[in-house]
Amino acid sequence: MYKVTPVNENFKHMLHGADYNPDQWLDTPEIIDEDMRLFKLANCNGMSVGIFSWATLEPEEDKYDFSFLDNILDKVAAAGGKIILATPSGARPKWMSDKYKEVLRVANDGTRNFFGVRHNHCYTSPVYREKITKINRLLAERYKDHPALYAWHISNEFGGECYCDLCLGAFKNWLKEKYSNDINKLNFQWWTKFWSHTYSSFDQIEFPSPKGETQVHGLNLDFKRFVTHQTTDFIKAECEPLREITPNIPITTNLMWPFFDLNYHELKKSLDFISFDNYPMWHAPQGDLHEASFTALAHDWYRSLMHKPFLMMESTPSLVNWKPINKLKKPGVNILSSLQAVAHGSDSVQYFQWRKSRGSSEKLHGAVVDHCGHENTRVFKEVSELGAILKKLDDVVGSYTKTEAAILFDYENLWALNDAQGYNRYDKKLIETVHKFYQPFWKRGINTEIIGYDDDFSKYSVIIAPMLYMVNDKLIDKFDAYVKNGGTLVATYMLGTVNENDLCYLGGWPGGKLKEIFGIWNEEIDSLYPQESNGMRAKSGKEYKVVDYCELIHANSAEVLATYTDDFYKGMPAVCVNNYGKGKAYYIACRDTGEFTDALIGYLAEQNNLAKAINIDLPAGTTAQSRENGKDKFIFLQNYNDFDVEISLDKTYYELINGNTLSGKVTLNAYSVLILKTDC
Ligand code: GLA
Ligand code: ZN
Repeated sequence: MYKVTPVNENFKHMLHGADYNPDQWLDTPEIIDEDMRLFKLANCNGMSVGIFSWATLEPEEDKYDFSFLDNILDKVAAAGGKIILATPSGARPKWMSDKYKEVLRVANDGTRNFFGVRHNHCYTSPVYREKITKINRLLAERYKDHPALYAWHISNEFGGECYCDLCLGAFKNWLKEKYSNDINKLNFQWWTKFWSHTYSSFDQIEFPSPKGETQVHGLNLDFKRFVTHQTTDFIKAECEPLREITPNIPITTNLMWPFFDLNYHELKKSLDFISFDNYPMWHAPQGDLHEASFTALAHDWYRSLMHKPFLMMESTPSLVNWKPINKLKKPGVNILSSLQAVAHGSDSVQYFQWRKSRGSSEKLHGAVVDHCGHENTRVFKEVSELGAILKKLDDVVGSYTKTEAAILFDYENLWALNDAQGYNRYDKKLIETVHKFYQPFWKRGINTEIIGYDDDFSKYSVIIAPMLYMVNDKLIDKFDAYVKNGGTLVATYMLGTVNENDLCYLGGWPGGKLKEIFGIWNEEIDSLYPQESNGMRAKSGKEYKVVDYCELIHANSAEVLATYTDDFYKGMPAVCVNNYGKGKAYYIACRDTGEFTDALIGYLAEQNNLAKAINIDLPAGTTAQSRENGKDKFIFLQNYNDFDVEISLDKTYYELINGNTLSGKVTLNAYSVLILKTDC
């Protein structure tokens, strides 16, 4: 099940480098030469190029000039480095939008955008697809044998929708296929008799829009599904020439975080490996411990998409320019947050950006090379120091993360839940709830995955399923088999409210067989005002604060573990467990403030003997994750506190960064990492 899987079989080193835009510096070739000197000095070995270069590569229609790429690929190869070569569809030349209006995106009020910014293209436009596949073919032909070519980077940060007629036509076709060309099937699933919204043919369908339909939830949901489908279809079209000409060069696109508008469980199917852009808010008011665990969640989430190492495609070595307040990373934090990515499965530390652009909107965004142009900066030195550490991690490349615990998340469930008119109408907090369940695993150093409905459940001893409002029959069957076979399943309030088309289950919640699996019936749900709270009392007598949601459930076969302390439902069950087959199904009917969740995960970790990265007590603000390669196990001990902590090791380890052996009490400095090596 677990195997070593480097992103590119021919390069077994951690990739370290940045998005690089030499096309902005063609008038000053001495700067490009200097970049190559600095590249080596910074201990870098990977550059992502060509991301927004279309206007340089094709300055006039069908007139191409690849000379700047030729130059950079040769120079990086000569420096022993690798290139992640982007396709340029993330932004297009002005001539194209002028000549072919259809390549520009149409907004949800039906008006076509002007030329400008980036990512502003129609995913359906045949012209845009023809233009991008043509240039992709030329890029692939030209560089297919180039020693620097490491991977393809498709476009940039896919996102957004287009409301043009071409997209509408594609949407109608997508619906026809989904509903077997039977409009009545669609009418039923969308429940269109409500407010007399019945359609008599697929031709009548319009996009959801604030100018028109927003209340047919089935339409909203299918539209979001279609956007993922069409984006993925566009990616597939982009990949066609690349797959044909460079079958051995792996393909990715840089995903975003936190970003949930595209269903990455679907989109990933068109890629060979996952990469994503990571921009935590260090030293922000919510605190570094919050940010550390939320970022850890991101890394685990993206590793879990393919259950193998990923690339951190972008991060900033210092600050960004697009947050309301753009704060510097404190000394040590670039190394810490970069090695955090590696700890969770990244085989790279890539930055945005190598050199600060001189003008336009990203001129104040952090970079390895600042406008001063030399290496005598705090940031450059820290980047170079990190590069030296990454060079010691060859054995970590491709290594896997063993996990026994998982949290279940479904993009479509999030869309449907957020769209649902009910509960707390505008703030359902699903992502916060996933994070709340994730944190107790993280702080205990238990490797965790974030999985989707289609994943194999059988490899996890514990699965947490928060707020699964929308489920389907297949999922219910999987739950049934999982628990019967001995799994521990934890679900919460809102479980099994609607089916995959957002139609409520009849016959009581949670829908179908879920009532049997969990041994409960959920009669009502109370949403609390922000200033309100309730409480729950566990069998031990301990009380926990409860906020936001309280369900009024009845225990059938389940054992009641905690009851409400207040309101007219005082004494009713708040937490239950049901013995089902060889396993246990827990139902949590209310949202607590974190203390109960932590206690529950702690209990389940002990009961199920969940493996920790290292078998020691981790002081608050520290964590550990592990990766293995079949021979060695690497443990990344991290301290997110701004003060030193003492840790007692359980045995003797070799420490990779400093190259010495460690045992007994060791000091983990403020904002620092130790990488311990031991046998598997
Ligand atoms: C994104 C983009 C980059 C750049 C950075 C800035 O991740 O992909 O091109 O704009 O943001 O942080
Ligand atoms: Zn369109």
